[in-house]
Amino acid sequence: MCGIVGAIAQRQVSGILLEGLKRLEYRGYDSAGMAVRDQADGQIHCTRRSGKVAELEAALGQQPLQGSLGIAHTRWATHGKPEERNAHPHLADGRVAVVHNGIIENFEPLKNGLIAKGVEFASDTDTEVIAHLVHDKLNQGVEFPEAVKQTIAQLDGAYALAIIDQQQPDLIMAARMGSPLVIGIGIGENFIASDPLAMLQVTDQFIYLDEGDLAEVRLESVSVRNRAGEPVEHEVLRYEHGQDATDKGEYRHYMMKEIMEQPAVVEAVLEGRLGKEAVLEQAFGAEAKAIFDRVQSVQIIACGTSYHAGMIAKYWIEELVGIPCQIEVASEYRYRKTVVLPNSLFLTISQSGETADTLAALREAKEAGFLACLTICNVPGSSLVRESDLSLMTNAGPEIGVASTKAFTSQLVALLLTALVLGRRHGISAEQESELVSALKRLPQQLEQVLSLDSAIETLSQRFADKNHSLFLGRGAMYPVAMEGALKLKEISYIHAEAYPAGELKHGPLALVDKEMPVIVVAPNNSLLEKLKANMQEVQARGGELYVFADQAAGLDNGEGIHTLELPHVHSLVGPILYTIPLQLLSYHVAVLKGTDVDQPRNLAKSVTVE
Ligand code: G6P
Repeated sequence: MCGIVGAIAQRQVSGILLEGLKRLEYRGYDSAGMAVRDQADGQIHCTRRSGKVAELEAALGQQPLQGSLGIAHTRWATHGKPEERNAHPHLADGRVAVVHNGIIENFEPLKNGLIAKGVEFASDTDTEVIAHLVHDKLNQGVEFPEAVKQTIAQLDGAYALAIIDQQQPDLIMAARMGSPLVIGIGIGENFIASDPLAMLQVTDQFIYLDEGDLAEVRLESVSVRNRAGEPVEHEVLRYEHGQDATDKGEYRHYMMKEIMEQPAVVEAVLEGRLGKEAVLEQAFGAEAKAIFDRVQSVQIIACGTSYHAGMIAKYWIEELVGIPCQIEVASEYRYRKTVVLPNSLFLTISQSGETADTLAALREAKEAGFLACLTICNVPGSSLVRESDLSLMTNAGPEIGVASTKAFTSQLVALLLTALVLGRRHGISAEQESELVSALKRLPQQLEQVLSLDSAIETLSQRFADKNHSLFLGRGAMYPVAMEGALKLKEISYIHAEAYPAGELKHGPLALVDKEMPVIVVAPNNSLLEKLKANMQEVQARGGELYVFADQAAGLDNGEGIHTLELPHVHSLVGPILYTIPLQLLSYHVAVLKGTDVDQPRNLAKSVTVE
């Protein structure tokens, strides 16, 4: 993962770079560093620290870096431990400095070749070879841009790179292959970053580089060549999300802010997509109609939380549309032989639009004979959006907390819209569609009601803080909701959490149930409620402690070994969206009680742009 930034300006850049790193910290936070060229002495000065960006900030506070050309990095370790010597930027002989996001797969033979030439390495990273390769070519008299071009031609793997040369006061070389990179366009200054968010404090105009692009970023100009070496003109796009989206506001953590934003986010994803009684198909793009008319099956691919959204969509698509829908995690799908059904729509779901496995699966799919590729994504201009035939943006705004919350609910809404437009071609009646459209319109207000349970959930969370294990149960489309609840709890509170379809309880997990293993149940008032109640009795009979999020009409009371929180009644198909919220709040409060780093849980990163 990792986040990279670069700046070339007529003013000091270290503050801009530092702010950029803070905004990119969601991408990795085990070490950070910055290299700035000081025009006074013509040298590149570099400061690196293990730990979070705050450590680097403190070091820079003691000893500021001066200069108007610089690059910086926040790291999520792949090669080499998260120690200062492995932090980026990596330098070669004080002349070349490199920051990198990605993995260089052939770094070992390249490194061995350099060692044979007498080069000494200071880190265990794959990245350092890049600095030395460029430096080696400069030594041979090759011009800096050409040296970078020749170097990247030697690299296998994934990279977003920013490279500076001490002898080039007006140039940052930027390259992209397999990892995201944008160029921020200012007036008399330019920037690069892994994500536009990082540079919103200085510009809202961005160029999104394509795979294989190599850019020369100067004070007054940006020129880009594609992988064939031909000059390309990319459109400069205005970033559309509100600038305050990266501000924590009144909240202690981004995660809480993002949980609380969900009613507004649901409104945003519905905005312009609903007519009075039906979904507006144009939202999917001009070519959508011709494609949707032919869809006979759907293959969904995603990772992490987005995968759970896809699992729920499978229930919706098979129930509402009545066509086969398969779902698989991208990292499995891409490495096995699969069978493509005729007229099958390939559907990716991703918050970032940059997840390496999902992107790779999309690229495979494009060769595999699918009818078309649709992505449900939160980041306009991201790789998945650009490489798919159709896209539906989730409009959730930037999500900073590593544990995904509002992105998930917005994906669910977008997926339900997708199921409706497909369903219309396969027998959903206008009445059914209108009923669901009304249910969606009511949803923001119902989400507000659920969010008002926050303090009750906070009280409940106290019973979890000393536990080491937990079990989440659901049936039907509530099973993936339980999976998402378990994922949230494990991600941020580090409590081991497993989710099971409630009917599977007696086939194994029941053996684990005792007072020390809280069992969380999502119990809407649907056709499976009676069966779920029987499962709950199986838990109670073994002395287990139940925490149930239930429909007002479910007829469940508080009692010995059972703590029930009532939720408003919703349309059964919309239920998964509503029932997700209390599980998010529960994880949040447990994590706060445990004192973990809620927004940046250990070992994780938000945008996983490596395999
Ligand atoms: C990481 C994040 C998760 C996210 C997953 C997939 O693991 O921490 O929150 O669900 O990647 O990311 P995507 O951007 O493709 O939804």
